[in-house]
Amino acid sequence: MAPRRNYLALVPFAEPNLWHDLRADHGITPRTGIARYIDFAQQAEAARLDALFKADFLGFDKFHIRHDPDMLTEPLAVSAALASVTRHIGLVVTASTSFFEPYNVARQIATLHYVSGGRAGWNAVTSYNGEVNFGPATLGTPAERYDRATEFTEVVVKLWDGWEPGALSYLADGTSVVDPARIHDTNHVGTHFSVEQALDVSRIVEDLPVVFQAGASEDGIRFAARFGEAIFVATPDLAHAREYYDQVKRLVAGNGRHPDSLRVLPGIRIFIGDTEQEAWELYRDAFKDDGFYEDRRKFVKREAPAIDLDGLDLDDVIPLERIPSRDTMLAARRRVSRGLLLHDFITERENITVRQFLERLHGGGHLLAIGTPRQVADLFAEWFTVRACDGFTLQGGGSFARFAGEVLPLLREKGLVREEYEGETLRANLGLEQYHLAVHGKLAVHGKEAP
Ligand SMILES: Cc1cc2nc3c(=O)[nH]c(=O)nc-3n(C[C@H](O)[C@H](O)[C@H](O)COP(=O)(O)O)c2cc1C
Repeated sequence: MAPRRNYLALVPFAEPNLWHDLRADHGITPRTGIARYIDFAQQAEAARLDALFKADFLGFDKFHIRHDPDMLTEPLAVSAALASVTRHIGLVVTASTSFFEPYNVARQIATLHYVSGGRAGWNAVTSYNGEVNFGPATLGTPAERYDRATEFTEVVVKLWDGWEPGALSYLADGTSVVDPARIHDTNHVGTHFSVEQALDVSRIVEDLPVVFQAGASEDGIRFAARFGEAIFVATPDLAHAREYYDQVKRLVAGNGRHPDSLRVLPGIRIFIGDTEQEAWELYRDAFKDDGFYEDRRKFVKREAPAIDLDGLDLDDVIPLERIPSRDTMLAARRRVSRGLLLHDFITERENITVRQFLERLHGGGHLLAIGTPRQVADLFAEWFTVRACDGFTLQGGGSFARFAGEVLPLLREKGLVREEYEGETLRANLGLEQYHLAVHGKLAVHGKEAP
């Protein structure tokens, strides 16, 4: 039952601009919009990476507009475009359970799955932003959002699996044959949603789309342990990562699922140099950017408004009275998990200055790999071997070419990354079974037998 795969799952963000060497201002011919995405998707596929990940901010993000005005933000349309110019790599679309409707999300992801030949993933998020553009203009509490997310996801899975495997088959002459007895109405009436009919998208492959998740509070982890098959998480060091990994795997097992039916993929940013010092210089280049510190201050305001840096200069030590308690951070509404992480960054080092704190946030609280190709490969190997992760979500950094051309071969030598794609679908390539997702295929989402 879904044994731990013996190599790393690697899922880059779809945005080429996150890598310095792929940015138009770094010596490559300027190209716009989708051409850049296509180019990067094909490079990622040539490197045999698992899937391209599209996050979603659900609104106007001043930071991205300034750094990447060409960025294509809407995940589904971009992923559909990339599906038609790639053959193997997966396509993971973030779609909010707080602002969207399950029938809509189920048919959109199922259609992407169809047009990509089984390569779709859904990143189910409860969202930390978007309420001013969607819905009732207020963001529910985390508990309310996860309550809705639970029902939402049950309905989506039921819709996908409402078409049993074999409901659609083909005769030798290519004629399609539908067996209506194997297509089930949804008949869901719940607290948040009423969905009656079956999905209007045929199931062309038996493998269902893969459910990703991003959200790391207690509620978030419980949600992941029930539905998630791959998790994008911010764990900036081994201590955070091991603790998170053990906790989530224990909860998965507690739900009657095999612990390896869920892949934990921390975010990572990668800076590679010929020497360690050169790699650090590359990493520190970002601090010279106009507006770096201002942007990071805004990030703190958004993610952890209880941390008040107003009126403090960059080289001021952050006074103790400005540091909120963990309880205050736990009461946050948007992203409890990120607030706690920022809190740890301030408190784990004595007399931290505003500058040091803001620089620590380069990468947004995710892991940083800074060093020679061998050092970076060793870090990947160590995290995997000590069970701090099952792979990584790659959030860019210095040079993608160096990562693909110098780090991946070292990992390949260690047997930690694939030579070739193993299967046709994202699920097969991630080595995941779908037993816990299937409703009509015998087992329910809890891992218990369906009635
Ligand atoms: C690493 C990570 C990535 C996330 N990415 C997104 C995203 O792209 N879009 C979104 O709407 N929410 C995203 N979220 C927000 C979560 O869905 C969730 O609403 C929020 O983090 C609050 O839950 P938490 O405290 O459990 O993390 C992300 C959360 C984490 C931790």
